Amino acid sequence: MMADTVKGKVALITGGGSGIGFEITKEFGKHGASVAIMGRRKSVLDSAVSSLRSLGIQAIGFEGDVRKKEDATRVVDATYQHFGRIDILVNAAAGNFLVPAEDLSPNGFKTVMDIDSVGTFTMCHAALKYIKKGGLGRGTSGGGTIMNISATLHYTAAWYQIHVSAAKAAVDAITRSLALEWGTDYDIRVNGIAPGPIGDTPGLSKLAPDEMKINHSEDARPLYKAGEKWDIAMAALYLASDAAKYINGMTLVVDGGNWLSRPRHISKEAVKELSRVVEKRSRSGAPAPSSGVPTRSKM
Ligand code: COA
Repeated sequence: MMADTVKGKVALITGGGSGIGFEITKEFGKHGASVAIMGRRKSVLDSAVSSLRSLGIQAIGFEGDVRKKEDATRVVDATYQHFGRIDILVNAAAGNFLVPAEDLSPNGFKTVMDIDSVGTFTMCHAALKYIKKGGLGRGTSGGGTIMNISATLHYTAAWYQIHVSAAKAAVDAITRSLALEWGTDYDIRVNGIAPGPIGDTPGLSKLAPDEMKINHSEDARPLYKAGEKWDIAMAALYLASDAAKYINGMTLVVDGGNWLSRPRHISKEAVKELSRVVEKRSRSGAPAPSSGVPTRSKM
């Protein structure tokens, strides 16, 4: 990535004080952007901003909760007032915890929907007047871009993650719908990133705490490899750059193929041995030997 990839641009990142959000913020800053971060905890914001400034990045933090419409409006307005424009909105704020569906209260479900899905829409809605073509501070030179941090949980199903799976499915729907409507009407590109397990993040420490003994052996999950926050930040930088100017409505999976992972049910050596034998038998019309599996009785 060139040092001027997002030079002169202004990015607002929710959840930008820690984890993946902070890494995206840092890399945007290192590649030329001015950055505003939004989060609920002042101490986290303060330390993130001072760390960004120590790298020479123009940074500011705003306290706010994406669940509150008035916070969303106040923070996007303040970002515009401070920097004079907004080019990039990254929705990285999220909530998560492990819980069996039967133990999750409707309010627990709603809380995560409110942060991840409603919060994402609320921020997009509040930022539209600044990032649209012809919007405040932009002139008619084109629209900005939005990036929604998603997940891969809902591509299949994930244990103890019904709330987050539902919330991220909604986030992906928001990404596509806004890409259609705002891409057409306002020249705004709206994309998503679906990270896999990323090391050294609040998400991973909540979903796979040290106390939990998870089997990541190659047999159990052949493609399992934790990614780095940097991997997600580079994807975000790419999507924000002009190199991605024709990409709209896409959620980019950045997980090393992990969501495709499944246990190997038979070894490669066994397949090599068996495959030709089975094929030969099937061509000869000979009956297959019993697999030892009992046949189901008729109902
Ligand atoms: N298991 C089951 N239910 C839980 C829970 C858990 N571990 N943690 C919270 N809940 C439920 C609460 O019981 C409550 O429901 P109830 O009113 O029916 O009892 C509901 O969720 C809201 O909890 P509350 O503590 O009031 O929410 P909050 O707004 O203070 O916190 C969370 C929001 C729960 C999402 C919190 O984990 C959070 O702030 N997360 C942000 C950081 C994070 O998760 N980062 C990782 C991102 S991948």
